Amino acid sequence: MKRAMIVSGPTREAIDPVRYIGNRSSGTTGYHLAETARSCGFEPFCFISGPVNRLPRSAAALVEVETAEEMREAVMRRLEEAEVVVMAAAVSDYRPDRVSAVKIKKGEEELLLRLVRNPDILAEIGRRRSPGQLVAGFAAETENGPQNAREKLLRKNVDLIVLNLVTPDNPAFGDCPNRVCLVTREACEELPPLGKEELARRIWGKIAALAEERGG
Ligand code: CTP
Repeated sequence: MKRAMIVSGPTREAIDPVRYIGNRSSGTTGYHLAETARSCGFEPFCFISGPVNRLPRSAAALVEVETAEEMREAVMRRLEEAEVVVMAAAVSDYRPDRVSAVKIKKGEEELLLRLVRNPDILAEIGRRRSPGQLVAGFAAETENGPQNAREKLLRKNVDLIVLNLVTPDNPAFGDCPNRVCLVTREACEELPPLGKEELARRIWGKIAALAEERGG
C-alpha cells in the first residue's frame, strides 16, 4: 500500500488573543479521504489538520495545527516519507502582519488590518517533491474552471487538481453533494454530483490510476 499524507481543514490566523481570520472549510472531504484510504489501497500514515469538529480514527499519526505556517512545518517535516500527498486544506492566503498581544479594544469608526501573504504549501511541495511522489491538490473556481485548474496544476507542479465548480447551488462547503472535475495533465473528467465519501473514493481511484500509468 502506498503511504499517503492527507492535509485537511481550514487554517486560523490570529488577530489578537481572542480573534482570528478563518474560513468555512469543514474538513469533510479530508475526513472521508482518511476514512476510505485503506479500502482504496492507500495507507494514511499521516493526517495533518487545521481546527475541525471531526477527526478521522484511521490515520496512524494525527497532527493538529492552527496556522498556515504551522501546517507548512508539519507537512515539510514528513514530506519525504509520503508516496502520495493529498492537499485538501483550505489554507488562508493571508495573515495579519502582526498579532496583537492584548485584545484589541473598540475605538475609532474604522479599524484597518494589514495582511501579508502566507506560504503556498502546495507550490512548495511541487518544488520539493521527489520524482516518484504523486501530489494532488484542490481548487475552487467560479468561472473558467477547467482552464484555471490546469494552469494551477502546471504552476504548482502537481499531478491532479480536484476542481470544485462553485455556483450558487453548489457552494462546495459542508456535507452537500459536490460538482467536481478531476483535472490531470491530459484530461478533465467531470463527475456527477457526489456525496463527499464517494468523492473521496473517486479521488483515490484516480490517484491509483495515475500511479499505475507511471509504473506503480
Ligand atoms: N494551497 C496551499 N497553500 C496556500 C494556498 C493554497 O497549499 N497558501 C493549496 C490548497 O490546499 C489547494 C490549492 O493550493 O490544494 C488551492 O490553490 P489556490 O491557488 O489557493 O486556489 P484557489 O483556492 O482555487 O484560489 P485562487 O485561484 O484564488 O488562488
